[in-house]
Amino acid sequence: MVIVKSIEDVKSNIFNEFSCGNIELDTYLKEFARQNHKKGIGKSFVAFSENRVIGYYTLSMACIEFTEIPEGYNRGIPKYPAPVAKIGRLAVQAEFQGKKIGTALLIDALKRIVEASKSVGVFAVIVDAKNDSAKRFYDGFGFIPYGKDELSLYLPINTVTKLLK
Ligand SMILES: CC(C)(COP(=O)(O)OP(=O)(O)OC[C@H]1O[C@@H](n2cnc3c(N)ncnc32)[C@H](O)[C@@H]1OP(=O)(O)O)[C@@H](O)C(=O)NCCC(=O)NCCS
Repeated sequence: MVIVKSIEDVKSNIFNEFSCGNIELDTYLKEFARQNHKKGIGKSFVAFSENRVIGYYTLSMACIEFTEIPEGYNRGIPKYPAPVAKIGRLAVQAEFQGKKIGTALLIDALKRIVEASKSVGVFAVIVDAKNDSAKRFYDGFGFIPYGKDELSLYLPINTVTKLLK
């Protein structure tokens, strides 16, 4: 069973063995996630199975330009930057990939975002996929490209709510 905890409830030394195949994502968890969590830069949540770290994700707030909102989603809203929740990072320990841990982490992240959206304006969820392979993972949940970069992905908050039902 996967248990997800806030990084502030986890000891740092447990991250030493974490390896997801992307050095930048590994280093973030080991060196920066905790301090950024404390400073309010990004809140990180860590998944465990039998006391082993098997994945994590990081959430923060962001905004996107009105002109970046995908066609069909920009009707009837003010023409200034729209508030969004950002999944800054999401990674699964290499040997646990392909076992739906990424799905469990994404659903956990979206639930927290929906909860936050009851108190803070959240128009959509965005994520910058690290590569085409990661993009295909997000494609499966209905994320669509936005803005100029094909790896910048967007999911309307209404779709998130429906996805969780
Ligand atoms: C991308 C990642 C988070 C996916 O997590 P995961 O636990 O391996 O994915 P899941 O087992 O939950 O897969 C869910 C679905 O996405 C698909 N999927 C997952 N990774 C995929 C990939 N690289 N390419 C294509 N499809 C993929 C699965 O086939 C599955 O589809 P299905 O529901 O039709 O069977 C994980 O592989 C990872 O950490 N990769 C390295 C780091 C990285 O690139 N992170 C993304 C940063 S933006």
